[in-house]
Amino acid sequence: MKRLTVVVGLIGLVAAAPGFAQECSLTIEGNDQIQFSTKEMRVSSSCEEVTITLVHTGQLAANVMGHNWVLTKTEDYMPVAQAGQAAGPPNYVPANDERVIAATEVIGGGEEVSVTFDLSGLEPGGDYTYFCSFPGHFVLMNGKFIIE
Ligand code: CO
Repeated sequence: MKRLTVVVGLIGLVAAAPGFAQECSLTIEGNDQIQFSTKEMRVSSSCEEVTITLVHTGQLAANVMGHNWVLTKTEDYMPVAQAGQAAGPPNYVPANDERVIAATEVIGGGEEVSVTFDLSGLEPGGDYTYFCSFPGHFVLMNGKFIIE
């Protein structure tokens, strides 16, 4: 109950200070139907760092219905997704690949994972795509990452 009060208090603080408090931590869900909960994520360019938390709300194991959150430029999204499949388990992300801006580990149902990355090297208004690099999932699980 105490934790709930703190959360409500923080929301009130953000609402009371528009333009000041920025949302630099975002949460996205993945499920057993190979879906992310949103096709678009927005962050302010004033965030120095962004933390993305991926919550797998399904029940299937990581080797069957694995999800991760990978960010690249949109032009790199498909090539990196293919390189990820070639890289193989457990995380399906090519090692030491400069096209990968950020990536979480692959998780299964009931798990969550976070990644924090520096936003300063990215362009406001640039064209970025996030996706799940588990084999086949990038087709359905992707969205636009918008820096505004
Ligand atoms: Co997936």
